Amino acid sequence: MRINKAVFPAAGLGTRLLPITKSIPKEMLVLVDKPLIQYGVEECLSAKITDIIIITGRGKTAIENYFDRSIEHEILLKEKGKHHLLKSVDDISDRINLTYTRQKEALGLGHAVLCAQNMVGEEPFAVVLSDDIIDSDIPVMKQMIDIYRNYGYSVLAVQRVEDKDVSKYGIIQGKEIKNGLYQIEDLVEKPELKDAPSNLAIVGRYILTPNIFDFLKDIKPGKGGEIQLTDAIRSLLSVQPIYALEFKGDRYDGGDKLDLLKAQIVYGLKNHETKSGLMEFIKKSKWCVD
Ligand code: G1P
Repeated sequence: MRINKAVFPAAGLGTRLLPITKSIPKEMLVLVDKPLIQYGVEECLSAKITDIIIITGRGKTAIENYFDRSIEHEILLKEKGKHHLLKSVDDISDRINLTYTRQKEALGLGHAVLCAQNMVGEEPFAVVLSDDIIDSDIPVMKQMIDIYRNYGYSVLAVQRVEDKDVSKYGIIQGKEIKNGLYQIEDLVEKPELKDAPSNLAIVGRYILTPNIFDFLKDIKPGKGGEIQLTDAIRSLLSVQPIYALEFKGDRYDGGDKLDLLKAQIVYGLKNHETKSGLMEFIKKSKWCVD
């Protein structure tokens, strides 16, 4: 079955990035000239996923405003004859079908995904955590859909992490069935290093079969007292196979200050308008010496 829908949980409070997240949702933080969430949406579009379901919460109206038409900008740009800029203000929302639902309480990622159940229905669907910024030649969602097409079951994106970082992620145990593709045998949310079954960490891209909702409805709060998506996926494993793809690409944690800065530099160096100026600035910068 084709994947048409992607769920974007976006109700989190972004506490690691305080104080900016007091008034700006972390999904709206900027990489060059676009908010993080737009990169995730563009990744979906490149994989022909056009139905975008955003799970928002209190203080997240900036996301809805962003994807609305900005009539004031359109009028101004037309008046000033800046037609080339018009495309940049209305392009993305014309190409997607957007729906929103609210997660009234931040009860966890699993609960956020459950909020989308009525909108997803009985179809397999994608989940994108837009603060996982992934720079890759082939968009990760496309890499995952290729696997889904071949195997027909849920697929999680994973990457190897250092021992010190294992306890920050969902960690899988799997049997490698092809280069970089694992059949999952077990998974655990944010284990201590001594309990971790491997160093393969789940990154915020999932393709899930709709059966996940049967389990999300019933699971009890897990790590951190939250309804964890990882726990529901673990239960799903008892009824169907699940795969993990060690994707090709570089991932930056947009919820972490240093990683966000690294991503700013990488995307700045990839952007044709900013590349040469940024490179020159870094080379000459007095701040680049110890
Ligand atoms: C969530 C998931 C975790 C996953 C991570 C990827 O955690 O619960 O399994 O490894 O996203 O970014 P969070 O970062 O929301 O605490």
